[in-house]
Order: sequence, then C-alpha cells, then structure tokens
Amino acid sequence: MTRIEPLGKDHRGRVRPARHRDDAAILTLEELFPSDRMTLRSVRHFLKSSTAHSWVAELEGAVVGNLILVTRSGSRVGRIYSVVVAPQARGRRLAERMVRAAQAAARRRGLRQIKLEVRQDNAPARALYAKLGYVEEQRLPGYYDDGADGLRLCKDLSAKRR
Ligand SMILES: CC(C)(COP(=O)(O)OP(=O)(O)OC[C@H]1O[C@@H](n2cnc3c(N)ncnc32)[C@H](O)[C@@H]1OP(=O)(O)O)[C@@H](O)C(=O)NCCC(=O)NCCS
Repeated sequence: MTRIEPLGKDHRGRVRPARHRDDAAILTLEELFPSDRMTLRSVRHFLKSSTAHSWVAELEGAVVGNLILVTRSGSRVGRIYSVVVAPQARGRRLAERMVRAAQAAARRRGLRQIKLEVRQDNAPARALYAKLGYVEEQRLPGYYDDGADGLRLCKDLSAKRR
C-alpha cells in the first residue's frame, strides 16, 4: 500500500535575513528569472552592502526565494530590486512574507515609500503587489531589454498597513 506522507511541519517555509553564505543559492534563484540577471559578484556586493538588505525564504532547509531591498543614504525611499521564489515553492505566501519583512525593516529605518519596477505582463507579481497595497505610479514603455513595457509601483509606508 502506498503510504501518503503528511506534509512536514516546515511546509509553509520561513523567511529570514540573508547571510553571506546564501550567495550561491541566491544566484541560482536569480538565474531562474529571465530579466535583471545578476552575477555572483553583484550578489556578494548586495550581501555586503550597508545600504542593501536581503531576505531569503527557506523550505525544508533549502533556500527557495530571495528579496533585495536597496536604500540610499539621505533618501526616504527604498527600492525592491529583486523578488523571486523557485517554481516548486510558489503559492506558500513566501514572496508575501519577504515583502512584508522588507516593509517592516523599511519602516524601522524611517523610510516613507518603497518603489519597484515590474513587467506589465507579469500577472503574478502584479497581483502580489496589488494585494500588499502597491499602486501604479508610472508607466515605463519599452523599459525591459526585450522591449516589454514596465510599471513603476509605489507603496506609501505611512498609509494604513497591509
Ligand atoms: C511573483 C512571485 C515572486 C510570487 O511568489 P509566491 O511565493 O508564489 O507568491 P505568494 O504565495 O507570496 O503570493 C502572495 C499573493 O500574490 C498573488 N499571487 C502570487 N502568485 C500568483 C499567481 N500565480 N496568480 C495570481 N496571483 C498570484 C496572490 O494575491 C497571493 O495572495 P493569495 O495567496 O492570498 O492569493 C513568483 O511567482 C516568482 O518568483 N515569479 C518570477 C519572478 C518575478 O516575477 N518576480 C517579481 C519581479 S517584480
């Protein structure tokens, strides 16, 4: 008889700040996502930088997602530079939890807004950001290398929490 294994207690995964030794896992994840590819050097740069803040999502001990929030000294605006969750780990609210972690950190640092760019045709990402209260600030025609249009989205961190 086939035994159906129950889902482990870690099936929802967890979100934690990224560490230096997550660099290779983050690079592998970034390679899954066709635009904005990063090199190992740029991943390491983000992990070392005092103005970049990174989180990873873990599932059953493996790194399956990452988010990078970039800030600039003197600016109250943070930018979500990258969010990706491995296909097999999607739908567990890992991206949502990483964005919420970034928002909480941004609030603690006194930032007022978070901005990001997303492809107009990226329905899952647009649904994620709409759920979390991001609004369209600007259309970016031909923004991506393949000519696809982009949108700049913005979230006001002082607005009612979502
Ligand atoms: C976009 C992406 C990060 C979402 O990751 P995820 O962990 O599966 O998303 P979550 O489970 O946290 O979803 C949170 C919310 O986002 C929305 N969402 C996520 N994926 C969706 C999908 N495929 N279709 C519709 N809505 C979706 C839903 O509103 C969902 O909330 P719900 O669970 O209450 O319905 C993931 O699909 C991905 O890595 N895509 C490739 C990289 C990418 O596009 N990054 C964004 C660049 S700006």
